[in-house]
Amino acid sequence: MCGIVGIVGREPVAGRLVDALKRLEYRGYDSAGVATIDHGKLDRRRAEGKLFNLEKVLDQNPLSGKIGIAHTRWATHGAPTESNAHPHFVGNVAIVHNGIIENFAELKEELIAGGAVFSSQTDTEVVAQLVAREIASGKPKRDAVQSVLKRLTGAYALALIFADEPDTIMAARSGPPLAVGYGKGEMYMGSDAIALSPFTNEISYLHDGDWAILTAGKVEIMDFDGNPVERPKQISAATAYVVDKGNHRHFMEKEIYEQPEVISHALGHYVDFGSTKVRDLPGSIDFAAIDRLAISACGTAYLAGLVSKYWFERLARLPVEIDVASEFRYREMPLSKNGAALFISQSGETADTLASLRYCKQEGLKIGAVVNVKESTIARESDAVFPILAGPEIGVASTKAFTCQLTALAALAIGAARQRGTMSEADEIAAVKHLIEMPRIMSAVLNSIQPQVETLARELSKCKDVLYLGRGTSYPLAMEGALKLKEISYIHAEGYAAGELKHGPIALIDEEMPVIVIAPHDRFFEKTVSNMQEVAARGGRIVFITDAKGAAASTLETMATIVLPEVDEIISPMIYSLPVQLIAYHTAVIMGTDVDQPRNLAKSVTVE
Ligand code: F6R
Repeated sequence: MCGIVGIVGREPVAGRLVDALKRLEYRGYDSAGVATIDHGKLDRRRAEGKLFNLEKVLDQNPLSGKIGIAHTRWATHGAPTESNAHPHFVGNVAIVHNGIIENFAELKEELIAGGAVFSSQTDTEVVAQLVAREIASGKPKRDAVQSVLKRLTGAYALALIFADEPDTIMAARSGPPLAVGYGKGEMYMGSDAIALSPFTNEISYLHDGDWAILTAGKVEIMDFDGNPVERPKQISAATAYVVDKGNHRHFMEKEIYEQPEVISHALGHYVDFGSTKVRDLPGSIDFAAIDRLAISACGTAYLAGLVSKYWFERLARLPVEIDVASEFRYREMPLSKNGAALFISQSGETADTLASLRYCKQEGLKIGAVVNVKESTIARESDAVFPILAGPEIGVASTKAFTCQLTALAALAIGAARQRGTMSEADEIAAVKHLIEMPRIMSAVLNSIQPQVETLARELSKCKDVLYLGRGTSYPLAMEGALKLKEISYIHAEGYAAGELKHGPIALIDEEMPVIVIAPHDRFFEKTVSNMQEVAARGGRIVFITDAKGAAASTLETMATIVLPEVDEIISPMIYSLPVQLIAYHTAVIMGTDVDQPRNLAKSVTVE
């Protein structure tokens, strides 16, 4: 992952580079650094940990150069120490890098054999060493960079500056995104348009294999072979305004409570409130013409896809093949030529999801993207874009993006069912009415369950392991609950299909183990209650998340019973997400973890 940014400016750039890094911290926060050129010399400040550490270093020891590059790191090669923090210097060359140089070991061996001395454990330093060696052999800088790019395998977005050419940044992209921004007498480059938004909204995205040379007055873009290419300038919609937490303690809490509002926005895009039907979206997928749908995504986005598999199959009678993108991309599965593929991604930049998309494109499938960031690479490479309209999600643990993904996918599944003639008009209207009611029900739930969830969280914070169970669409939700709890509270948790309990996980049940059962009173309810009986018989402590009918129908003793309104099956995954998210949030707050930026994680995963 990592975020990179560079400015060829007219005024000192370090402060603005740090501002841009603040917008990129979602890409990693293991360390950060800035380098500038002042009076023909490279100078840098670096710090372990979050950006405010770097800010402190810069306050005590400012940089005054008018050209610079900067980096926020999610560690891959080498521990998150200051010496591994970017920018890396080799002689007159400074570099920042996002991605992984896969052939770095053999390149490093070659360089060491030639006498190179390394000062970090990173794969990135290899690139700086190679460029410095090419320049030392007499090559002009642009030839040196171009020849080094040809030797790299893996994924990279790079930026380089040179002490003896203090008006130039060279940047290159193979895999992770890279944008250049056009200013007046200044030029910018960075990992995304949001980083550049305080400086300019006039940007071009480099294509894979492109590299660029930026000076204060000009941007030259070349393809991999060095041929000049034009990449369209666009006006980015990214705003310079920094999202704040409002009255909330954490972004995650704010984002949980924002869900009724953002889901209303998403619904406005997908459903017509007048006719209470889903809208015909221009340029959408013709679901009547396809015989299979492939879905791929990572993490929480994958779990949203898994919920939608139930909808597409049951409502639209459309078979769905779904897998996590890191497996999907390498399975080389045969795909139906009459099929379509959906890729779900909040960031729209996840490397594995993008690679799966490209595989399906190559196989000739029509591609749809369910994304939050409309200008992302996944959106740009898709035939049809389905925005989830969640607004910026800052908390690393996804909450509102998940429920907005579900909302968009539910509308798409209903639209697919209409096109395929598998849903009557009356059933479509009924389903859409339930979707329209959803924000109001969500507000009521958010206003009522917090005290009970906080009490429960106090108990859960004492536990080492937690099991989540569910059936039907509550099964992916059980997995989402476990993912949320482990990523922000660091408590081990697993989500299982309730029916799988007796095939292994039941061995874990004892008096210590809380089992969170997600069981609306739906057609699976009786079966899930039987599984709860199995837990109770072994002394397991049950947390029962259900509705009034469900609570009345069960006589089992529970550690807590959270009662939600009775809702239709189409919206229950969104409504039941709320207690699941709040349980993880309050447990993490009690544990004292860094809720918005949990350890080892990053918001956008652009490496595989
Ligand atoms: C978990 C979480 C991650 C992301 C995953 C995919 O809370 O946020 O599991 O869902 O990294 O990211 P996107 O959706 O950006 O492709």
